Amino acid sequence: MCGIIGYVGEKDCVSILLNGLKRLEYRGYDSSGIAVLNKEDNRNEISMVKRVGNLKKLEKALSKKEMKGSLGIGHTRWATHGKPHRLNAHPHLDCKNEILLVHNGIIENWEPLKNELISRGHKFISETDTEVLVHLVEDYYNGDLVKAVRKALNKVEGSYAIVVMSKKSPNQLVGARQDSPLVVGLGNGENYLASDIPAVLEHTNKFLIIEQGEIANITKDKVEIYDRNEKLVNKSPFETNWDISSAEKEGYEDFMLKEIMEQSIAVRETYRSHVYKYKISLDESNLPIDIIKNIKKIFIVACGTSFHAGYVAKGVVERFARIPVDVEIASEFRYKDPIIPNPSLVIAISQSGETIDTIAAIREAKRKNAWILTISNVMESSAVRESDGAVYTFAGPEIGVAASKTHTAQIMICYLLSLYLAKVRGEITSAETAYYLNILKEVPSKIKSVLDNHSKIKELANIYYKFPDFIFIGRKYGFPAVMEGALKLKEISYVHAEAYPAGEMKHGPIALVGENCPVVAIADDSSVYNKILGNISEVKARNAPVVALTTIGNEKIKNLVDHVIEVPKIPEEFSAIINVVPLQLFAYEIAKKLGCNVDQPRNLAKTVTVE
Ligand code: G6P
Repeated sequence: MCGIIGYVGEKDCVSILLNGLKRLEYRGYDSSGIAVLNKEDNRNEISMVKRVGNLKKLEKALSKKEMKGSLGIGHTRWATHGKPHRLNAHPHLDCKNEILLVHNGIIENWEPLKNELISRGHKFISETDTEVLVHLVEDYYNGDLVKAVRKALNKVEGSYAIVVMSKKSPNQLVGARQDSPLVVGLGNGENYLASDIPAVLEHTNKFLIIEQGEIANITKDKVEIYDRNEKLVNKSPFETNWDISSAEKEGYEDFMLKEIMEQSIAVRETYRSHVYKYKISLDESNLPIDIIKNIKKIFIVACGTSFHAGYVAKGVVERFARIPVDVEIASEFRYKDPIIPNPSLVIAISQSGETIDTIAAIREAKRKNAWILTISNVMESSAVRESDGAVYTFAGPEIGVAASKTHTAQIMICYLLSLYLAKVRGEITSAETAYYLNILKEVPSKIKSVLDNHSKIKELANIYYKFPDFIFIGRKYGFPAVMEGALKLKEISYVHAEAYPAGEMKHGPIALVGENCPVVAIADDSSVYNKILGNISEVKARNAPVVALTTIGNEKIKNLVDHVIEVPKIPEEFSAIINVVPLQLFAYEIAKKLGCNVDQPRNLAKTVTVE
């Protein structure tokens, strides 16, 4: 997730680009940059400023620099490949300092391409995947920027939205997209390219959407869009009636709903950045092979939603890698004088990487000589810096206080990590790894199909919002998802909810159930399906209304329960990443029905830096 913008026209565009980036800052803010071409007196001079940190840093630097130009591009970065550093900030330049490019997305095959380009004499200065693109464009440039961009894009695999400008074509911007968003803003004697509409909404309300595989060639008075087959596409512009504040949420009522809806993208980007051609790459983790082979035990430390991802990790690491795993609430771990045998791996999971309890648990584990790996959504966060290695989720910034897209991205990392550990330890073969990766590759589209069922879940919420208490039940791989489902309901709707392993109900909690205490049960296709069916019958016999989350095609269960939420079929080991999504939506819709502020629930904070 990064924000990109481009301007071609007659105005001095530095402030236009900067203001556009401010609107895109929600997409990333670890570094940023702007480059413009000054065409006055035919001098064709490029000026560029980049800064690490949020846009205030860039703004300050720009205020001190004389910078003019009527063609320009800008970028605000959410680091994927390469830490936040001025050299990794965009725009990126070719060897001759003539072509400039900004990119949002992930180039999956950057490594072989980079090696190939270096062998042909290209000089790289950054650690980014993006830089290969600008060198490829340089290689193919023969006076026609569109052609060069097309040829370069034909070589890359992955996701991208790009804007390219060149000193040699001073009146032109070229944009292209595959999986990452890009729009054209249409002005009078000027045109814009941007990651989203709000970035340029103060200048125009007329837009064209660039579709998958399309390339846009833009001057101040003309916009040409070509499809994959190099055919000119005839598009009609549309006018938006968005105002700025609703536009930042891209039309969604809240950031949380937007982030829930972004989950298939967040999970896909996370998968893509760690898997290439059926090989899992966790290089940035620095995890030594001898540690993986010899570890006796794994401890997972985390808080809140990240703790639930830890539970998912326990299930799959024990299943695939056959290493025993303890999942510990971070705030408890540090005070219990944990017994950590040597060698052990401690995995800290923290979306922000700043949760003080998790950092304290890392310090405790370090004191006891464990090898520490952090799973985080934020590069260079405190937890990452205090660890021996890190693996990143690529969910983009999350604004809603209650985690959603970062959680499913964390789960994807846990799946990949479990397979990686299993492969290194010889518990699974390359063929088995490829088989499981094929299943994981389909997860984003399965999540999307659950999200497409939103209105059905809203109808259910309209029935269930009146109840004061809920019990969520699941077994085996279903349990972490109900823990998260119950937490979401508590956090954002202030409705009391508890999660229980379904078999444990008879040892106490079943005393609570009745017609005023509904039960939400995970009853998808799994090895414990018949067991959970028994548990559902037990609560039904006590008059509890039951919502069952069940695999598409299970008609029979409809005779037993009051309502069903259908989810696509997936092997049980990987079911949590799908099953948690409708539970987030269920909690969200109940909270909305109760009039709660879902983005900023009472008493909570996004990042808890106090004990
Ligand atoms: C807070 C947030 C939760 C989050 C938890 C852990 O309580 O409200 O949504 O799960 O912190 O945050 P972390 O950044 O460490 O994952």
